Amino acid sequence: MNQRTCLSVILAAGEGTRMKSALPKVLHQIAGLPMVAHVVKAAEAAGASGVALVIGHGADEMRKAAAKFAPEAETFVQEKRLGTAHAVIAARAAISKGYDDVLVMFGDTPLIDADALTVARLRLAEGAAVVVIGFRPPNPTGYGRLIEKGGKLIAIREEKDCSEEERKIGFCNAGMMAVAGAHALKLLDAVDNKNAKGEYYLTDIVEIAGAQGLDVVATEASFESALGINNRAELAQAEAIWQQRRRHEAMLSGVTLIAPETVYFSHDTEIGADTIVEPNVWFGPGVMVASGAKIHAFSHIEGATIASNCDVGPFARLRPGADLRNKAKVGNFCEVKQAVIEEGAKVNHLTYIGDARVGAGANIGAGTITCNYDGYSKFFTDIGEGAFIGSNSSLVAPVTIGNGGYVASGSVITESVPDDALAFGRARQKTIPGKGKELRERFASAAAAKKKAAGADH
Ligand code: UD1
Ligand code: CA
Repeated sequence: MNQRTCLSVILAAGEGTRMKSALPKVLHQIAGLPMVAHVVKAAEAAGASGVALVIGHGADEMRKAAAKFAPEAETFVQEKRLGTAHAVIAARAAISKGYDDVLVMFGDTPLIDADALTVARLRLAEGAAVVVIGFRPPNPTGYGRLIEKGGKLIAIREEKDCSEEERKIGFCNAGMMAVAGAHALKLLDAVDNKNAKGEYYLTDIVEIAGAQGLDVVATEASFESALGINNRAELAQAEAIWQQRRRHEAMLSGVTLIAPETVYFSHDTEIGADTIVEPNVWFGPGVMVASGAKIHAFSHIEGATIASNCDVGPFARLRPGADLRNKAKVGNFCEVKQAVIEEGAKVNHLTYIGDARVGAGANIGAGTITCNYDGYSKFFTDIGEGAFIGSNSSLVAPVTIGNGGYVASGSVITESVPDDALAFGRARQKTIPGKGKELRERFASAAAAKKKAAGADH
């Protein structure tokens, strides 16, 4: 086990103009989580205990977001964007706390996997002072090339500064590095800006370390893990890769996905073995599904808990606070929000249940609506165990239906119904024998008279 302490410095000061967005680039989401939060998660999974976020563009928004996805992170503002080395130095106060390892990462590289970082940290533990994470992109144009000699990395050459020979190198700088904490600031402070772009290049520390006789090596990561996001097309590409990985993981963990490419997960979706997910299902953030559930086609689920052996959909919408207990059923065209559907209860068709409890074994008829909102406040509907709500009833909250309560179809229930009571909330039906026929005859002769009168006008 690696006992060395580790700080992750995440560069996220860039504007990301190519996103054409009011939102800072790294706050755009992959699987419902800002891309920079994915980077933080990877760093933490690789053992980083400290996180320093270097921000600039949209600093206030970044701080606010970071307080949510990385409450422990320290933020540092890089006032002017003078290059990647300059950006790392903005976090000087964090680096000088004396971590063993410093991981430099980019906030716009959301698919970085923790393994690549762990491998880099292992090389530090073995004595390297700088470890550069490299990759082999299908098209290396635009990337810094890794120049190696005898197993050592001697330089990173930015595309612009490459000779023709160097430009042919396919092994490129992914941008991420692991630097021994003991050397980090000394190496960074030695970087100058004497290059074509007039920037302080982080990549220059490779040659600086080499000149000091320090050990510098490169490791290799997958293309995806180094995929940098600059525009919305790349954002969608990263999302697709993320989803593909997650679907694969879900299936290997025992979840059946009938058409995996049509099922979308969020960063925090939990889903148990032997659950079957039919095509075109969307899991928004905050969903937990236990084992043995069936999620039928075209269901949209967010912020919901689904216990074992539940049956959901097709076309169900579960909104935040939907809490389905064991064997509960929520069928087609039903919406459930902030409501507990207790064990074995059935909400089968065309129903809205919001701010409510549906007791165990209760049956909610088609078209039932909990009228939970008066335009100003929300009110609670409590439906007891084994209650039966007849089709097309409106339950005007606040209202309680007792255990075993029975509501007649088409009722508007405005007063609570005691246990085992029957409640009608509608006008009584009146049936008049023969009256239908009489009406029809009267209407027919009236229409004929009108037609005749119109003809006489001509
Ligand atoms: C960098 C590498 C290049 C590598 C490529 C991989 C350097 C000098 N070059 O080039 O070798 O192949 O990444 O994608 O490091 N940033 C700041 N403040 C700054 C400058 C940059 O926060 O002053 C942030 C950016 O927001 C971005 C990251 O650092 O997230 C990388 O900067 P960028 O300008 O995109 O570097 P590249 O030219 O892509
Ligand atoms: Ca870049």
